[in-house]
Amino acid sequence: MKQVAIYPGSFDPPTKGHLDLIERGSKLFQHLIVAILCNPDKDPLFSLEERRGMLEKLTRGFSNVKVDTFDGLLVDYARRVGAYAVLRGIRAISDYEYELQMALMNRKLEPTLETVFLTAAEDYSYISSRIVKDIARLGGQVDEMVPPLVVERLQIKLNGYGESPRASKSRVAGKSRRK
Ligand code: PNS
Repeated sequence: MKQVAIYPGSFDPPTKGHLDLIERGSKLFQHLIVAILCNPDKDPLFSLEERRGMLEKLTRGFSNVKVDTFDGLLVDYARRVGAYAVLRGIRAISDYEYELQMALMNRKLEPTLETVFLTAAEDYSYISSRIVKDIARLGGQVDEMVPPLVVERLQIKLNGYGESPRASKSRVAGKSRRK
């Protein structure tokens, strides 16, 4: 039964580009599982449970989308959940080589598993989780790149406050000047 597709990724943090792909994927497949990789080698900004919580909130409006986590090989997870396809987004030519390699490797490991690529929406083609984190760490605005929930979580994670890093910096600078 060709019903279940997986959208795997790190989602550290989820971006508007990810959400666009989830929305479009939810229309293409009967069931879409957003599968967050539990990768002990990476040092994520957000824990697996934090990412899962954010994605669950962000995908609440899609009745056929479920959020899950996995470790080990994607093909083994796909077999466990009975998925026939893997959904991935391509933003630019630079993504293509890596994505092609993954798709071919996954097909080698599990010939029945298809990889379906969607091109990123133009507005989101420059966004990546890594760039969002870099900008947020350096006090830049990321509200065009990530949903409001993620903006807030980034602020809390990086500043300990629900305010922008820039505002936080000037508040701290103001305090030290007064001393
Ligand atoms: O968002 P990302 O970090 O580009 O996602 C990469 C991901 C999770 C899709 C990929 O690393 C993956 O599938 N990892 C699971 C391990 C695996 O199956 N590796 C072999 C396929 S190349």
